[in-house]
Amino acid sequence: MRISEKMQLALVEQIHLELLSINQYLVMASYFLKDDLNGFANFFMVQSQEENFHAMKQFQYLHDVGGSIRISQIPAPISDFHSIKHVFEMSLLHERKVTQAISNIIKLSLEEQDYATHTFFQWFITEQVEEEALVENIIKKLDMIGDNSSALYLLNDELAKRTFNPNPTV
Ligand SMILES: [Fe+2]
Ligand SMILES: [Fe+2]
Repeated sequence: MRISEKMQLALVEQIHLELLSINQYLVMASYFLKDDLNGFANFFMVQSQEENFHAMKQFQYLHDVGGSIRISQIPAPISDFHSIKHVFEMSLLHERKVTQAISNIIKLSLEEQDYATHTFFQWFITEQVEEEALVENIIKKLDMIGDNSSALYLLNDELAKRTFNPNPTV
């Protein structure tokens, strides 16, 4: 089976966005590591690993459907943050952008009657719902914490426990 030229372009663009996501979350992890907030840093290291998993999954799919890729320049991630909450807000904005991009691919897959790509991206749209909810939840917790530093360290400890665990059924 071979995807259309239009779909090939859309998939390559999406892989670039996932590659940008890998770097975006590494920069966010670095912001926390330099202040020894290792739990927050761990959260973003795991995010970065998840984005690598997404990129590789799409990379494999692209080749399975007869496509190929040339990696062009990946834009620089955002790296100016002025607070812990600001990092999570930027993360949420980034995820919303990714959700929009995946929605556009799903829309295109229906226009092109490309049902294989339509099915493949169902997993990603569900993943986006989870990712946005996860970040929104942490923003709410940060709002409750305010400037209570002991509560902040409890959240840091909670986020230290997160591990990369790709869905084994996919
Ligand atoms: Fe992703
Ligand atoms: Fe993501």
